[in-house]
Amino acid sequence: MAEIVIVPTAADAGALVADEIVRLVSARPDAVLGLATGSTPLPVYEALRPRLAGVDVSRVRGFALDEYVGIDPQHPESYRSVITREVVEPLGLNPDLIQTPNGALATIEHAGEDYEAAIAAAGGVDLQILGIGTSGHIGFNEPGSSFASRTRVKTLIEQTRADNARFFDSVDDVPMHCITQGLGTILAARHLFLLAFGEGKARAIAGAVEGPVTSSLPGSAIQLHEHVTVVVDEAAASQLRNADYYRYAYANKPAWQGL
Ligand code: F6R
Repeated sequence: MAEIVIVPTAADAGALVADEIVRLVSARPDAVLGLATGSTPLPVYEALRPRLAGVDVSRVRGFALDEYVGIDPQHPESYRSVITREVVEPLGLNPDLIQTPNGALATIEHAGEDYEAAIAAAGGVDLQILGIGTSGHIGFNEPGSSFASRTRVKTLIEQTRADNARFFDSVDDVPMHCITQGLGTILAARHLFLLAFGEGKARAIAGAVEGPVTSSLPGSAIQLHEHVTVVVDEAAASQLRNADYYRYAYANKPAWQGL
């Protein structure tokens, strides 16, 4: 079972995950991080900034979950730009060691395979940060995605385009296609952190954690992974049937277990 940690605020969640990342990077300076974009991981990246001061991050490697297809990499909302702005620059990472899937149309046919090869060459992802869409997607694996899927092109559902319209001038400007790590790719990471904040994520979180394992709710794939930490605020936890048990289990967790 995933470990469910219910925290008062998104900032508390950010601190918890950031502490774990600092522990990892201190023990393994060339750790491989799986990076998410969107609003959810921002408290993690903010909390990391002061915590990484004095830690050698020059060898840290990273792979983003996804990218829009056909977007100019210089566009401020390309995930390449977002990762550079929110993660690489503030944390002082080496940009040459941080990759995003290549959404360029000219090479899109083999971009998925290339990305999988790069992740494999890095030895796989040590710690993967995940958000969840209101559709239940992780990465951009929309409902119906295969649990065995690897990095490939997907079509975003209208709900996701509407959710992401806040980053663009209008919903029509949100690209229709994306290239995303597959559910199989995500499940191969060694430790998954799934984060969610706010009422709007409550249904997706309840489905991912307590619902049936089904490709209709791709986030439920986490139930197949042996090391998952779900970190949610009270609002995102509000539809969890066993919330009291999760609180009790976390409060009484033996210190030696770690996360
Ligand atoms: C982002 C990603 C998506 C987002 C999800 C939630 O790289 O893969 O799965 O995590 O759409 O987005 P936010 O955090 O903006 O609510």
